[in-house]
Amino acid sequence: MTTLSPIWPAQLDHLRLDSNDPSALADFYATTFGFQASPLGADVQLLQGPGRRLIIGAGDPGARPYHGYRVADRRQLHDIRSSLQTKGVNIEPSPSPLFDEDAVAVRDPDGWLSVFGLPRTGLPSHPVVNTHSALTLSGRLQHVVVATDNLARMTAFYEDILGFTPSDYCSADVHDPTTRKVAFYRSDPEHHSFAVFSASEVRCDHHAYEVDSWNDIRDWADHMSSLQIKLWWGPGRHGPGNNLFFMIKDPHGHQVEISAELEIMPREMAPRVWPLEERSLNLWGPGWIRD
Ligand SMILES: [Fe+2]
Repeated sequence: MTTLSPIWPAQLDHLRLDSNDPSALADFYATTFGFQASPLGADVQLLQGPGRRLIIGAGDPGARPYHGYRVADRRQLHDIRSSLQTKGVNIEPSPSPLFDEDAVAVRDPDGWLSVFGLPRTGLPSHPVVNTHSALTLSGRLQHVVVATDNLARMTAFYEDILGFTPSDYCSADVHDPTTRKVAFYRSDPEHHSFAVFSASEVRCDHHAYEVDSWNDIRDWADHMSSLQIKLWWGPGRHGPGNNLFFMIKDPHGHQVEISAELEIMPREMAPRVWPLEERSLNLWGPGWIRD
């Protein structure tokens, strides 16, 4: 009998992004990705849009101090805490102002902090927007991705300790698991809420907003055009996840993705393996092979 991980279901709820100029970064995300900003404290802002929210604060430029995953209920949160304690994992205090205080924070081997929690009530609401703008475009915060110089250590942590479900791998040799270069993980039926790419160093890779349709990708691209922001990659379609996408870069050089049609995979579905080549990363055109 398979023991199911308590991490299921969990959805990416928010990220914290840091900057040496947090006001400028908050202005960029508000304008470019349709957020309304509310102050949460000195140099910390809550950005909210339809289905998406971020914390932007003062810190190392381009740092991403934590990834917040929303769980279903308090029982699940208890089970996550117990599971991690049983495995001897150090549980840290939650730094997230968006989750209740009993949120569970755990650091991966590369130092990324995942926080599992339940949304806190009483936070500032954003005003209703009735006129069409970036603030009314769909775009649910959906996945976050990191790059690592030690993929095996990271995949062991996310699979064996946290209990994310592998959806797809990319490997140099599809018959040899030791040659894996990319791993996509789901924590609910959406193909991935987290992924990790092998690279020359530990760094942010990208985060993504899932829209309702291909037409929304058109509308977002037209919106980027109105801001004189060039698409950095795409439009295209990823092999793993089968999602339509484009990406732009934020002021700290981090990629941000607009995605649609992300594949739905039942929990029991086994992971597949793709060759690490441009076509796997973009079925329509040039791939982004991480260095
Ligand atoms: Fe992505």
